[in-house]
Amino acid sequence: MLEQIEKINSLDELQALYTATFGKNGTMTARLRDMKNLDADARAALNAENATLRDAFKTRQAALENAALMAQLSAESVDVTLDPMPAARGTLHPMTRSLAEISTILHSFGYTRMTGPEIEDDWHNFTALNTPDYHPARDMQDTFFLENGNIMRTQTSAIQIRAMEAHGAPIKIFGIGPTYRREMDATHSPMFGQIEGLHVDKNVTMRDLIGDVRAFLMRFFEIDDVQLRIRPSYFPFTEPSIEIDMKWHGDKWLEIMGAGMVHPNVLRHCGIDPDVYQGYAFGFGWDRLAMLKYGLDDIRKFYDGDVRWLKNNGN
Ligand code: PHE
Repeated sequence: MLEQIEKINSLDELQALYTATFGKNGTMTARLRDMKNLDADARAALNAENATLRDAFKTRQAALENAALMAQLSAESVDVTLDPMPAARGTLHPMTRSLAEISTILHSFGYTRMTGPEIEDDWHNFTALNTPDYHPARDMQDTFFLENGNIMRTQTSAIQIRAMEAHGAPIKIFGIGPTYRREMDATHSPMFGQIEGLHVDKNVTMRDLIGDVRAFLMRFFEIDDVQLRIRPSYFPFTEPSIEIDMKWHGDKWLEIMGAGMVHPNVLRHCGIDPDVYQGYAFGFGWDRLAMLKYGLDDIRKFYDGDVRWLKNNGN
């Protein structure tokens, strides 16, 4: 029997022989049942035979199981000498990258980041910004209106109001985020990114504004000098108001941002006394700045989510 066990090559066959030997009607089971008729020596011999057989079954079973495992492992093995597939690497969206760059620069100038909701109320987006509902300047921005009377914020200037309402003066903050207007062409997207800066204190002047803007542009575009052109302009919430252009590649003037000294009415609306405090605000298109920096020509591509475009423009 021991030899027979040794020769068995399948677990099923081994199981069958085991049952025939040790099962309810097995040969060994029957012999053990009759053991009481044997003398002491024969009993000892039978016990020994029983133990040897059981061991033999166990050993053979382990060997067959091991062989099966080895066969499975070698069938499923991986050829580690093959060249790997190229891993797809993600890149940061140019908007995300420029957001991080702009935030880092403004933080280093002492501005704290503030946020505000993209669905705004009339007060924060217009009225508190010295733009009451009869004001013609409301037509400067094609507003998306919601049915409940709220709007999609048209400018991050709404964040100025929220910041001053919450913290009063002195204050030095920036807000950055999506803004919405009904317009669409290669340089306008209905959703676009704006940055707003606000600095209110007792002795803040236009010079501080222009100094920070200059330093900011040099850092952002990684250039040693920048030529600015300051033009008078109009915004309801600043007085005086200016627009700042930047000389680009030595020949073109590009309009970069709107800015000005915060209008006394705006300070008053936020509970700040304009006879004690004054400040400046500036606002610019964050996606436009990213387009200039990364040499991109169509603002809508930022928001299409085309992975091929993003792969080529994320770095
Ligand atoms: N909110 C203005 C715009 O969207 C920009 C601006 C911000 C101008 C702050 C002056 C001061 O056009």
